[in-house]
Amino acid sequence: MHLFEPSDPFVFSVISGKGGVGKSLTTVNIAAMLNDMGYKVAVVDVDLGLANCATMFNQPVQATLCEWVLNECSLEKTMQDCNGITLVTAADDPMELKLGTDIIMDALDQAVYALKQTHDFILIDTPAGVGEMTLWSLDAAEFGVLVLVDEPSAISDVYRLCKYVYSIDPTYKFGSIVNFAESEETASDTIHRFNTILTYFLEKESAYLGFIPENDQVRKAVRKQNTLLGYDSENPINNEVEFISQNIVAESTLSEKPQLKLAY
Ligand SMILES: Nc1ncnc2c1ncn2[C@@H]1O[C@H](COP(=O)(O)OP(=O)(O)O)[C@@H](O)[C@H]1O
Ligand SMILES: [Mg+2]
Repeated sequence: MHLFEPSDPFVFSVISGKGGVGKSLTTVNIAAMLNDMGYKVAVVDVDLGLANCATMFNQPVQATLCEWVLNECSLEKTMQDCNGITLVTAADDPMELKLGTDIIMDALDQAVYALKQTHDFILIDTPAGVGEMTLWSLDAAEFGVLVLVDEPSAISDVYRLCKYVYSIDPTYKFGSIVNFAESEETASDTIHRFNTILTYFLEKESAYLGFIPENDQVRKAVRKQNTLLGYDSENPINNEVEFISQNIVAESTLSEKPQLKLAY
């Protein structure tokens, strides 16, 4: 029995602007934690051509959404089970991008619609940059999870991404996670600085969701193609991922779907 039983599925997008900051790592580990908490969870990997959630779950991609579009498989076949989590991969081969992003986004809309019928949480793992797929993901989601790292260029990338989204939809809701944190104190300092900038320039604030420390166990779990829970359920780092996941569950009870469509 959960404290919260989601009546509507909650869709959130994991974004950062910059690459290599831990979006995919965050996505698969929050998914694993929410799954462990008893929720029905799906991950949609929209890092077109360079999808790597399947690898992180130690599975080959069964079938991509692009293959479905090309009538090479059923939609069900694109929904592969990864230890209880449903994974949908949009495209895992750069060749598939020839289909064009409009067609891929249409297929993704249909996949998310189908996933919503049977899942409590849908996480979207996005590519770096402020490209079409990031904007599609924010449009499909009701909440943006920002992955911050304590580097000026990373923070300024996230700030510009938020500024752009707010220019289209001033009501959009974001939460922040600090990855590669040295400690809880440095993480809270990073969030504080980021929110100071958001407040000063845009009169906005992102909700603090938690942090993931820079940690060798994280690297080892990634190398072993395992989640942190699967690799070592006793590792204290799981408490941080649990804290983040609980904050997302709490957020899901508050959120309303933004009304405006983002332009992409
Ligand atoms: N907290 C962390 N501690 C140590 N290594 C990390 C941490 N977070 C991510 N990494 C490493 O950083 C690399 C990039 O992470 P990834 O999730 O693929 O980033 P992104 O999806 O943003 O490009 C991975 O190889 C992962 O092992
Ligand atoms: Mg990634």
